[in-house]
Amino acid sequence: MSASPSVSAVSRIAYLASDFVVNSLSPAAPSPFQAALNKLASSPDSRASVTNLPFGADAGDTLLRHRSARLLSYTALAHPQVLNHLLLHLPELSSTSTVFHVAVTSDLSDALVLQSSLPFVLYSRTAQQAHDHALLASRLAFVESTAVLHIFHVGDETETVEEVEADRIAPFLFAERQSPRGSDQKSITDSAALLKIYQSAAFATVALVRRALRPLIQHGASEPHTVLFTLGQAALDYEIEGVSFVDVALLKPLPPSTILGAVSPSVTRVIVLEQLHHWSMKWTPLYLEVVSAIQQSELDPTPVVQSGILGDASAITESDVATLIEKAATAVPSARLALGPAPSAQASVPAPHVPKHEAAYTKILANLFTGRLDVLNSPELIASQGEVATTPEFALGRARGELEEREELVAAVRELLRDPNVSIEIHSLLSRWLGAKDDGVKSKQIGEELATALEGEKSSSPAAQKILILRRLLPARSRWIIGSDAWAYDLGASGLHHAIASRLNVNVLILDTTPYSTRNSVDPHRRKQDVGLYAMNHGDVFVASTAVYSSYAQVLQAIMEADRYDGPSVVLAYLPYNTEQTPALEILKETKLAVDSGYWPLYRWNPAKEREGKELFSLDSDFVKNELQQFLDRQNHLSQLTRSAPEVAAELVGSLGENLKQARKMRAQQTYLDLLQTIDAPPLTVLYGSDGGKAEKVAKRLATRGKMRGLSTTVATMDSISVDDLAREEVVVFVTSVAGQGEFPQNSRTLAKALNAAAAKGDKVLNTVRFSVFGLGDSHYWPRAEDAHYYNKAGKDLDARLAQLGAERFVPLGLGDDQDADGPETGYKAWEPLLWKALGVDAVEVTEKEPEPITNEHIKVASQYLRGTIVEGLADESTGALAPSDTQLTKFHGIYQQDDRDIRDERQAQGVEPAYSFMIRVRMPGGVCSPEQWLLLDQIADEHGNGTFKVTTRQTFQFHGVIKRHLKSAIQDINRALLDTLAACGDVNRNVIVSTVPSLSKLHRQAFDFARKVSEHLLPRTSAYHEIWLDKKLVAGDALKDVEPLYGEFYLPRKFKVAVAIPPNNDVDVFANDVGFIAVVDKNGDLAGFNVTAGGGMGVTHANKKTYPRAGSVLGFCTVAQGVEVAEKIMLVQRDNGNRADRKNARLKYTIDRMGLDNFKAAVEQLLGYQLAPARPFSFDKNIDDFGWITGEDGKHHFTCFIENGRIQDEPEKDFKTGLQEIAKVHKGTFRLTANQHLIVADVATEELPTIKRILAEYKLDNVSQSGLRLSSSACVAFPTCGLAMAESERYLPILIDKVEKICEESGLRNDSIVMRMTGCPNGCARPYLAEIAFVGKAPGTYAMLLGGGYYGQRLNKIYRESVTEPEILAILGPMIQRFARERHQGEHFGDFVIRAGYIAPTTEGKLWYDRMGGEGQYREIAVAA
Ligand SMILES: Cc1cc2nc3c(=O)[nH]c(=O)nc-3n(C[C@H](O)[C@H](O)[C@H](O)COP(=O)(O)O)c2cc1C
Ligand code: SF4
Repeated sequence: MSASPSVSAVSRIAYLASDFVVNSLSPAAPSPFQAALNKLASSPDSRASVTNLPFGADAGDTLLRHRSARLLSYTALAHPQVLNHLLLHLPELSSTSTVFHVAVTSDLSDALVLQSSLPFVLYSRTAQQAHDHALLASRLAFVESTAVLHIFHVGDETETVEEVEADRIAPFLFAERQSPRGSDQKSITDSAALLKIYQSAAFATVALVRRALRPLIQHGASEPHTVLFTLGQAALDYEIEGVSFVDVALLKPLPPSTILGAVSPSVTRVIVLEQLHHWSMKWTPLYLEVVSAIQQSELDPTPVVQSGILGDASAITESDVATLIEKAATAVPSARLALGPAPSAQASVPAPHVPKHEAAYTKILANLFTGRLDVLNSPELIASQGEVATTPEFALGRARGELEEREELVAAVRELLRDPNVSIEIHSLLSRWLGAKDDGVKSKQIGEELATALEGEKSSSPAAQKILILRRLLPARSRWIIGSDAWAYDLGASGLHHAIASRLNVNVLILDTTPYSTRNSVDPHRRKQDVGLYAMNHGDVFVASTAVYSSYAQVLQAIMEADRYDGPSVVLAYLPYNTEQTPALEILKETKLAVDSGYWPLYRWNPAKEREGKELFSLDSDFVKNELQQFLDRQNHLSQLTRSAPEVAAELVGSLGENLKQARKMRAQQTYLDLLQTIDAPPLTVLYGSDGGKAEKVAKRLATRGKMRGLSTTVATMDSISVDDLAREEVVVFVTSVAGQGEFPQNSRTLAKALNAAAAKGDKVLNTVRFSVFGLGDSHYWPRAEDAHYYNKAGKDLDARLAQLGAERFVPLGLGDDQDADGPETGYKAWEPLLWKALGVDAVEVTEKEPEPITNEHIKVASQYLRGTIVEGLADESTGALAPSDTQLTKFHGIYQQDDRDIRDERQAQGVEPAYSFMIRVRMPGGVCSPEQWLLLDQIADEHGNGTFKVTTRQTFQFHGVIKRHLKSAIQDINRALLDTLAACGDVNRNVIVSTVPSLSKLHRQAFDFARKVSEHLLPRTSAYHEIWLDKKLVAGDALKDVEPLYGEFYLPRKFKVAVAIPPNNDVDVFANDVGFIAVVDKNGDLAGFNVTAGGGMGVTHANKKTYPRAGSVLGFCTVAQGVEVAEKIMLVQRDNGNRADRKNARLKYTIDRMGLDNFKAAVEQLLGYQLAPARPFSFDKNIDDFGWITGEDGKHHFTCFIENGRIQDEPEKDFKTGLQEIAKVHKGTFRLTANQHLIVADVATEELPTIKRILAEYKLDNVSQSGLRLSSSACVAFPTCGLAMAESERYLPILIDKVEKICEESGLRNDSIVMRMTGCPNGCARPYLAEIAFVGKAPGTYAMLLGGGYYGQRLNKIYRESVTEPEILAILGPMIQRFARERHQGEHFGDFVIRAGYIAPTTEGKLWYDRMGGEGQYREIAVAA
């Protein structure tokens, strides 16, 4: 064949653009490319080096050898024996700069086989297009370091091509390279992103060639009813009314939006014509793309999409097209249409008669092994051998016979080789054949030569005779037995067992057609044996699990590996369909479900690889691959290391090689074990409903234990399943807690509602399901007698509902109670054994150790000093969240993941993930910032957060509503303001707080300096913060050398808080902190030292009496110089003695009570090396702020504004945010935050006073005339952002105060301060346990009410009522406040009064907090008394 204009043009570009051109020769000589390339190579300015490979040779190896070339081009005329070799290498080649130019004469089938493994596929119909596309493909391949497939037609001699001058090609191609070879390119799989890459290369090419290059070329009617997509040579350039034509020039990437751009709303029918005559699958590539795009569109009505074959272009007329359109209208949509006659020289592929869908696989075999495929149980044999011919036993018998005969043939060849009389020519052929006897192509070619030569010689040697008799076996055959999934049910009888055990070189292809969604109903009583596992157990068997509609490339790879494997191979092929008419989309959907859910994992198990020292288990499905990736990332932090320092990556990977290999091996082994567990066991589904995580833990542990007993177990939330899906399950165990008053937890409410609805209809939809329920509850959560029915209500209701729906309760309801000695475990221990017994696995011996649950301690130590996989999580655009373990780590970086709880239910109903956002807390020791910093923080709230920010009880700022995408820039902006967020949360020392004391300027300065020193000294030293957020790219090796001299890699057992108080004001609530420094002043008014306290802490868990709040204990006195060291040593004693097994018991307060105060103090002093001096006298008079103007001793003025609950925002009539912004613009002093969430405009010079006063007045910031109650109040954030909130707090306290204020006013107490605090949960962020009156959220609208705290934070309060609602609060407080007004002593505070008046007992120490709770005498709560 001489070179056509298109072949010449493409050869020229390939030649001029590349360093190497690899050309596969065609069977017909001379090869079209060879002639063109030879001509170019013989020109005086020859450039590229050209390699011509013989027909049928494997070009992949040659290409890979030259992979480092700047640009590599491959040319070939499409032929299966040439291109199929490439399939195995494409995954490796896809990230090299290689262009595959494949010429076709008519049918595109052979060329398109390559498309599934490559990111870019261009198609050229004309010679000019081929020329332009060759340039585009070369530029794309070079600039993006990627492989590109360019398919073009050989065309005819008459075509003309306008070519670009040779000297313009190199500058065009090699001007710029986007990214280093093989960097991120591999990971881009999103077709829209790939399209952008294509477009940028296309623009550059257009500029060069001055001709349009478009992915789809549309012409014809403007408002069509029918669109014809054509992939093929025919130019359908007709004007037919209502019909538009789309010529496809880019087959990949082809995102749905591009396809839909060619389908206007007027379209009712889409016809996809492809020039594919012997495509091996039922659905063709372009058709699948178009169908799925249309399916995703919102076109109404959805156009019908039909597939058709495009025949010989030259014979198609306008009337043929019109007829096709008419036919399409009446044909069944699934019928294959045809336009134009089929090409005369169509390759005929012998295929046995098999069901239509199953041909997908058999055609692949026929194509891959053209001329050497042996289907041993082909139905065609029935005619000669009878019905038995299709049985596996028969097939195996044939294989055995043939293989034995081939062994005889090999023996005869060897014998003849030893014959001294044999000619040199024959001797050479014999030895060549022996070397190539297993190579399909070469053994055939040499075999033929050998047989001809032997015939010619007419040798009488018995060996030569034998060879001639067995000459049909000279070519290596690919032997296949094909079976349906019936085989998988009964291995022994079917003969499959024999095939596997035979160790013969035979391949078995087993089709499983059971659709995923009907998997349980098909054969509910009998689980299918897992053939793959069975075969793997045999050791020397190649096993692959494939699904053609999930990964075509993987099927091809598996089949080719099976063929090469010298021994039995089993290829499991998934093809879910019900009938021959099952539509394509259905099969695609079912396949996707099965593969994505892990039901049908894709893998290859190749024992031959072990001999090569390679992994023998390859997991090919994404689902498992992702897990593997995560596993590796966590184990080795490989990606982190390689990304941050590409130049040292090789070295690192090298040194980590062993770990990596081991990790992979472990993973493969684990997956294998997981798969093993699915053999022959009843599937167990565990569903849970849990708000706080307890029920979830129980459910997950139950699932693990089930697995260890050999059960195939899945675990998920109740809401992850519909009633219909539930009805298909066999054995389901529910574990649910109760949240709210008898309500189901959030993640189980949808299913609970759906079950109620089904029950109301009287349906018995669950009559094939067996179930058991375990409920977790707290019999004392709602302590009143009338609320007793709330106890474990969710579990009880669910149990009754399931039975009502016809399900069979196979184990009675189990109940766990938080109040039992061992908590819910007490009830659980009685229930679990019943479950195993009922499932028949109670006797299974569990030898494996139960995996330890992953705790925060594990997460910390595995995090490489707080790195985890945060970077990967930030890059993951598929979710607004971070990985759960990373959310524990980001706390150390000052970041909390939250979600908008107001819309959580609604989003769940819509099936979308919660509205995740992040809270960022700034580290700002002592709460002082400059006006410039204020302005920047204000801007950060607007640009990255929800437009507001909050002053917190730890004297710092908090931003809410920062979405993941903004996290990094927000942190960077905070750092730009010379602040940071490191250690603002997490198990480390948090923000150090200091009394604001505006009047005592000098003292404040000294205390503030001290606080800063403590904060800096106790900061974590990890460089992860800078690396992750500030892009301070440390060399990966350094990253691993991080040390934490104070914390170690486990950090602290729990959070740690330090406060510095300057008497007489205890505005920092020094006793609520782990360490407190109470300033002691010398005669000159200078800071002399501190009384040190330790062991304060607020957090409690409702009804868990092992938890309690504690006020710090005074340890002694230290000097200012000793202070930092004292803080450090207290922290170290806690680090080494705190309880790391139970986070609820981990704070310093519990450590001190466990060790005893004296022992604890001794331990601290031992580390210090000296004893603390005896404490000096001190006294406080309040713990609230002094509002309004105060002049300090240095003459500077300070104004304390009242910012209700610390929220800086603009509200109607209260534009505080804008007002403070205005102040910051002119203010020359500082801003000071108070630990009561208020703000001081501090250090105002006298001359600035009028301006500041004016602005304060303008924005009503000077209003401090609120009631004493309001000024003394504070609330935590709670809803909507805090994930732990059980009730409203910040949004509700002001409303409650409105009402309580009235009582105060009526009693003449408007200006009297009563410290009232509220939190949304018992965690205690607003320090409620030190308030005179406190409310702690239990459930929406319901709070625990506490009374009796000391006015200056010196005494804990106590629970007065375990659950109250607003009317009850008002009913309690009304008479109490009135009596207080009447009966209080001079200067007596409310907290003291309620004790003296006999409402509540005083709390003398934290451990005794629960003693006498519930009120005293006549005020005692009835439930508590009972
Ligand atoms: C807000 C809230 C409301 C609760 N309401 C009930 C209830 O009505 N009945 C009950 O038996 N237990 C109730 N409990 C107790 C929990 O069900 C119990 O502590 C359970 O172990 C928590 O499991 P979880 O962490 O999986 O949500 C409630 C707990 C909370 C936090
Ligand atoms: S007290 Fe509870 S609800 Fe309030 S902010 Fe703290 S954790 Fe959230």
